[in-house]
Amino acid sequence: MRFRSVFRVSQSRNRAPLLLFRQEASRPFSQLPSRSERSSLGIAFDIDGVILRGRTPIGGAPQALRRLYGDCGIIQLLGALKIPFLFLTNGGGIPESKRASELSELLGINIVPSQVVQGHSPFKKLVNRFENELIVAVGKGEPAVVMSEYGFKKVLSMDEYASYFENIDPLSSYKIWTTKQASNSNSTSKEFTPRCNVLLDRVQAAFVVSDPVDWGRDIQVLCDILRTGGLPGKVNGHQPPLYFAADDLEYQAAFPSERLGMGAFRLALESIFNRIHHNALEYTSFGKPNPFVFKNAEAILRHLQSASYHVMTNGHPGCHPFKTLYMIGDNPSVDIKGARQAGHPWFSILTRTGVFRGEENHAEFPADLVVDTVEEAVDYILRTECTP
Ligand code: G3P
Ligand code: MG
Repeated sequence: MRFRSVFRVSQSRNRAPLLLFRQEASRPFSQLPSRSERSSLGIAFDIDGVILRGRTPIGGAPQALRRLYGDCGIIQLLGALKIPFLFLTNGGGIPESKRASELSELLGINIVPSQVVQGHSPFKKLVNRFENELIVAVGKGEPAVVMSEYGFKKVLSMDEYASYFENIDPLSSYKIWTTKQASNSNSTSKEFTPRCNVLLDRVQAAFVVSDPVDWGRDIQVLCDILRTGGLPGKVNGHQPPLYFAADDLEYQAAFPSERLGMGAFRLALESIFNRIHHNALEYTSFGKPNPFVFKNAEAILRHLQSASYHVMTNGHPGCHPFKTLYMIGDNPSVDIKGARQAGHPWFSILTRTGVFRGEENHAEFPADLVVDTVEEAVDYILRTECTP
C-alpha cells in the first residue's frame, strides 16, 4: 500500500502525527476506543468517486466500511454499527430505501435507508407547499416515484408529462430509446391523472431530481413550463419555482474522466432560458456544498449514534456533541468546500479516486487531509481516534 497523505498546512486542530498514519498494520477492531469515546465521532461518505465508480466499489470501500461495524462478519443489525456513518451523495434518482438495498448488495454490508442522504432528500421538506399541486419531476431513474414516496400527490415524471403534449419535442421520432421506453412504460404515477387534466392544469413547480437523460427534450419542455407559467403552448406567465437536487458541474462515474453533472445541465438551461425570456431564470439548488446539508447530516449521525448506543437522557435520545465529523469526498468544490464552510466539528478528507487527482492539496479548497483511497481515510480515522 502506498501512502501519499497531505495535510492542510493551516490545520488548527491537533491531529495524530503523520508517522502514525504511515504505519501499515491495521489496529485490530477490538482495540477501538470505549463506547463513550467512540460516540464522539461520525463519518459522512461521498459515493461517486469515493465508494463507487458506476456500480463498481473502489478504493477498498467494502473492507473499509466493514471496519466500522463489530467483528461478527456479516452485519445484520444496526446495533452492530460501532461508528455512526452515512452516505452523503449529490446523486439520486431512486428512493433512499432502494439505494440502501443497492449499496448493501454492492458493498456487502447492511445499510439502512436513514444512512442514505441523496441530493433530492431535502425535497421532502417542500411537501407541505406542493402536496396537492401538479409538479413535474425530471431525471434518470424513477424521479416521480421518489417524489411520490416523499408525499407529493400529483407528480409526473418529465417522460410522462411530455408524452401528453403532441409534437412538444420535434426530435422525438429520431430518438429510438424513447420509442422503446414508451412501449415498455409502466408508470407508477398514473393513479392521480384522472383527477388532473395535464393539458389544462398549470405545473406549479419543477424538480430536477437526478441527472437529466434527454437534455434537449428536458430543456425544451422546462423552458415551455417555466416561461408560460406552467402550461406549455400558452402565452408567457409567471415562472413557477424550479428546484435542483444538486449543482455539481462534473462528477466521477465509470468513465475515466469526469462527466457533466446537474450543474452543467442547470447552466445550459439557464443560459438558454435567459436568451429566450425577458426575466432571468429563478431557481434553488440543494445538495452539497450547502451548509444545511452538513447540519442535516450531523442530525442524522446523532440519531444513528443514539440508535447504536441506546444513549438516553431523560427518556430522550442523548445529544452528545460530536468531537469530529469526517467528510470523505473526491470533489474539492463540493465535498471539501461544504465541509470547510460547515466548520467545527467537520474535518475534510479528500481522496484521489474521483474528480480530484492532484499530488498536493487542492489550491482553492484544501482539505484537512488528502489520501489516495477511502480505505486510507478510514484507516487514518481509526488510528487517530484510537490514540489515547
Ligand atoms: O450524479 C451524481 C453526482 O452529481 C455526485 O455524486 O456521490 O459524488 O456526491 P456524489
Ligand atoms: Mg463524489
